[in-house]
This record gives sequence, C-alpha cells and structure tokens, in this order.
Amino acid sequence: ASEPVRVLVTGAAGQIGYALVPMIARGVLLGSNQPVILHMLDIPPAAESLNGVKMELVDAAFPLLKGVVATTDVVEACTGVNIAIMVGGFPRKEGMERKDVMSKNVSIYKAQASALEKHAAANCKVLVVANPANTNALILKEFAPSIPEKNISCLTRLDHNRALGQISERLNVQVSEVKNVIIWGNHSSTQYPDVNHATVKLPSGEEKSVRELVADDAWLNGEFISTVQQRGAAIIKARKLSSALSAASAACDHIRDWVLGTPEGTWVSMGVYSDGSYNVPAGLMYSFPVTCRNGEWSIVQGLSIDEYSRKKLDLTAEELTEEKALAYSCLS
Ligand code: NAI
Repeated sequence: ASEPVRVLVTGAAGQIGYALVPMIARGVLLGSNQPVILHMLDIPPAAESLNGVKMELVDAAFPLLKGVVATTDVVEACTGVNIAIMVGGFPRKEGMERKDVMSKNVSIYKAQASALEKHAAANCKVLVVANPANTNALILKEFAPSIPEKNISCLTRLDHNRALGQISERLNVQVSEVKNVIIWGNHSSTQYPDVNHATVKLPSGEEKSVRELVADDAWLNGEFISTVQQRGAAIIKARKLSSALSAASAACDHIRDWVLGTPEGTWVSMGVYSDGSYNVPAGLMYSFPVTCRNGEWSIVQGLSIDEYSRKKLDLTAEELTEEKALAYSCLS
C-alpha cells in the first residue's frame, strides 16, 4: 500500500467538517486504496467538540484512516499536509457589516497562509471552502507567495453539481449523463451557471445539447439560473442549517478530480487564479471550466461566449474586483 496522504480540514468541528471527515476517511477523496492521516483544526471554543469528532473517527474504525491530529494550533495542523481543505472561517452574523466579516476572514486567511507556506508539504494543494471563498483564496495566495498559484483554488463545484442536478431533474435523465455545465465567477449569487456547452448522453448513446433538449430558453435563462444561484439559501430555509452534506461531497469531487484527473471529454468548474482567459481580469480568483491531468488543472480554452453570457461573466468579475478591493482595504 502507498504512504498515507495527510489531509488538513480546518473548521473541522463545524457542520461541513462533520460531513466531510468521514468521507475522507472512507476513501471518497482519494480512492479506496489510498490511506490517509486527518489533520483537524478548529478554534479553542470548539476544542471539546473537535475532540468529540476525533472520538467518533476512532469509533468508526475506518481501515484507511492511519492517524488523526485534532488541534487548535495552526502550526501543528499544517505541518506536513499534502492537501488542505479550508472550511474554517468567520460567519456573517446578524447586524454585521460586510466589511467587518471580510476583515475577520482576511486576518484568518492571512495567518493560515503563512502557516501553510512554512509547514505544509511541498506541492500541497489547497481548496478554500469558507466564504467569501474566492476572496479568502486570493488572500491565502497573496500571503503564501512560495506556494505556486496553481496549487490554490476555491470551491464552486457545489454550484456546478447543483446545475447538473437541475438539468437532470428537468429532463428526467440520470445526473451522470449530464456534463459540461460551467459555473463562471464568484461563489455568490452573481455566479453565472452556463449551459451553452452542456450535453446529455441519451440511452441511444447519442450526445445532445442541453439547450436543444430543454427547448425552453426562458427557463434556462431565468428560473434555472436563479435556482442554482439561490440554492444555498433555499437549503438553509428548508433545513434551518446550511448545505453541509452537498458541500462536503463537492469538496471531495473537487480534490479527487484535481488529483486523479477529469474523464476524457469532461470538464468541471474550479475557482482558480485568473490568467486573463475569456477576458476575465487577471489576478482574480474566478471560477472557470477546467480539465485536470497529472495533478494540474488547465482552463478549457476556445469556448464561444455569446453576448448574454458576456454580460454575466463581466458582472460577477466586477463583484470580485470589489471584494478584492474591500479585502485589501482591510489589510491597511
Ligand atoms: P460552521 O459554522 O458550522 O463551521 C465553521 C467552523 O469553523 C466552526 O467550527 C468554527 O469554530 C471554525 N472556525 C472559525 N474560525 C476558525 C479559524 N480561524 N480556524 C479554524 N477554524 C475556525 O459552518 P459550516 O456550515 O461548516 O460552513 C463553513 C464555511 O463554508 C462557511 O464559511 C460557509 O459559508 C462556507 N460554505 C461554502 C460553500 C461553497 O460552496 N464554497 C458551501 C457551503 C458553505
């Protein structure tokens, strides 16, 4: 068997953490032949609860789980990790200004960036889940200059999967037969779920475009988009809790595809550092369609962008530019 991979989960005592750590320990993240050592970080008020999660991991007797580090010490948490899933953050509480929330998260991500840079394994891959996910990832990148920018990403795979799910329900086809939706931009309500290049594989084996099969542009340009954009809020309304199960599952999909590769002919959405592709301003953490091979993602090039989509791509870029400015104003 291969050497265990060390996986850090921050905010591990929280809701997503509780759904995510058993998935990792079961091999959902890296496959059922890959042993793992879990590193779990949370803050001192959650230390007892974090220890409870550790007790449950022991009790679950996962064969792939070769060790658990549960700590409130950032350095101990980051030491030697090969994969870092950053779920910990400061939530927006009632009556708080956007700037106050941003400021809290900027200081968390600045500190954790330094700890990862100094103590993580070489070539550590980082996924930021905590909101504002794109901007937290950008701050992490800025304050960990020796970590290659290709190794830092944020989660929009949940939005991507939500889009696949909506198309599958609408067309009454298996979700596994739907592919190549795209989430552009911010993991926020300005994201643009784009189906212009998405296809469905029919029982005959033929691939057809989603637009053609749905044959309802009003739905695709209206309710479909707003349902995906607002899905997080809809789950909170229904459960009185956030979408932890689907977020944890999407985080595993994101890392697994990044490490093990995307299937031939299929792309996924990842928030990555923009190189100016599709005229998205360089230097933003922006969600693009990507394929992965040999542990590296690359942005799918050459997709046609119609006028309607162009506006949507620009709108979410503008929001990210503003968020970036707000984050920087918190630093000074
Ligand atoms: P939660 O509040 O249940 O858990 C967050 C955990 O982070 C808590 O245990 C808290 O003590 C911990 N934490 C706070 N500051 C920390 C620090 N400095 N270091 C380490 N841990 C720290 O929240 P939940 O539901 O698990 O969500 C976590 C984050 O994920 C939130 O920011 C949420 O908005 C975001 N989210 C992102 C999604 C995405 O698709 N990108 C989807 C769903 C949620």
